[in-house]
Amino acid sequence: MKNLKIAVVGAGVVGITTAVELQKLFRNADIDIVADKFDVDTLSFVAAGIFRPGTSFTGPNEDITRKWINDSYHYWDNIKNSREASNAGVAEVSGYIFSSEYPQIVRNEFIEKLVPIYRTATEDELRLCPGKWKYGSYFTTILSQCSLYLPWCYSNFKNAGGKIIERNIDNLSSLGSEYDVVVNCTGLGAKYLCKDRKLVPIRGQVLKVEAPWVKTFFYGDYDTYVIPCFDSVTLGGCRQYDSYDCTVNKYDGLSIKERCESLVPSLRNAKVIAQRVGLRPHRDPVRVEKEILYNNGNKVRIVHNYGHGGYGITTAPGTSLYACELVREILMGNSKL
Ligand SMILES: Cc1cc2nc3c(=O)[nH]c(=O)nc-3n(C[C@H](O)[C@H](O)[C@H](O)COP(=O)(O)OP(=O)(O)OC[C@H]3O[C@@H](n4cnc5c(N)ncnc54)[C@H](O)[C@@H]3O)c2cc1C
Ligand SMILES: *[C@@H]1O[C@H](CO)[C@@H](O)[C@H](O)[C@H]1NC(C)=O
Ligand SMILES: *[C@@H]1O[C@H](CO)[C@@H](O)[C@H](O)[C@H]1NC(C)=O
Ligand SMILES: *[C@@H]1O[C@H](CO)[C@@H](O)[C@H](O)[C@H]1NC(C)=O
Repeated sequence: MKNLKIAVVGAGVVGITTAVELQKLFRNADIDIVADKFDVDTLSFVAAGIFRPGTSFTGPNEDITRKWINDSYHYWDNIKNSREASNAGVAEVSGYIFSSEYPQIVRNEFIEKLVPIYRTATEDELRLCPGKWKYGSYFTTILSQCSLYLPWCYSNFKNAGGKIIERNIDNLSSLGSEYDVVVNCTGLGAKYLCKDRKLVPIRGQVLKVEAPWVKTFFYGDYDTYVIPCFDSVTLGGCRQYDSYDCTVNKYDGLSIKERCESLVPSLRNAKVIAQRVGLRPHRDPVRVEKEILYNNGNKVRIVHNYGHGGYGITTAPGTSLYACELVREILMGNSKL
């Protein structure tokens, strides 16, 4: 009898994390990652990678949403506390979130009880950064930098016998004849955009600067953030709903630089290394679901795992574990199990 064959379409943080977890669950399966973009060409590569789910992050219901977030935190925390942490690009970071207008901006119900420290900033701390900050919190969380995490995962995946195939998929059903189950981790998957009207791009732009003296993250009002990563500091940002523009916008760049420098003035001395743009695959709710399609009378088993918006690094592990469970369910009755 032949081995079980599983295709994971997509090699961003969601696809690769799902593929590695599937290898643990189905030890004898042949698992392929099929994607047209890898590593530096994925959206995942653009993200700073801080663990901070937005309060608008939505799964199918409250319990599942919380489970995804909890499982994700423990997944990252385990890597962070292992010998592999720096190879995998996972580290602890701490910092501040400030608002001059709304107290709720500095709260985060999802993580206040999950991370080791989440507390109200003191009066002194509110004066750390120039600006009339009225509300603030200090918290400790995890940073997962995809420029290190993705290659680390690809190599674990290959060492465990996984295959990586570079290919553009224009019709998921066509994979049905080759695989027992196809896992759809295509993010925005621009090609398919018109087929899922709930999937909307939210455009973001960031600057990567050289400022090794910045060790603390800062969030200010209006999507302004300064996040120290392994080899650079990420400055952001913007959130442009339904914008498909993948090119660096000069004015967005200038605005981000000015906003970040007024929050953390020492950044005026930082050299800009790169500017990057990404389209966050926003969907309400994030779609992690089973589906059975028929292709010329043949059953095609699909498990979807996409639409993580601005929180895909944060929540990839939890949704991936959930997707693995759906793969197990959809294969029930398959004699290869
Ligand atoms: C500026 C910015 C900052 C961000 N910061 C953070 C952050 O701090 N924390 C956080 O949690 N999230 C952050 N995000 C969000 C995060 O980047 C995304 O949620 C995440 O990268 C989504 O991962 P993904 O694997 O779904 O998609 P992607 O990384 O886009 O991967 C999609 C994969 O699918 C493949 N694919 C798609 N269509 C096809 C096809 N037709 N055929 C073959 N292959 C296909 C692609 O080749 C690619 O390999 C940020 C986003 C932006 C833009
Ligand atoms: C959170 O996840 C961890 C590890 O996955 C588990 O041990 C714990 O029970 C979970 N807690 C909640 C509240 O679900
Ligand atoms: C995908 O392929 C199948 C058969 O090969 C076909 O029936 C279906 O219409 C195709 N879908 C699209 C969107 O091209
Ligand atoms: C796969 O995911 C994309 C989103 O990236 C979605 O638009 C598409 O409909 C999915 N494919 C199938 C066959 O459902």
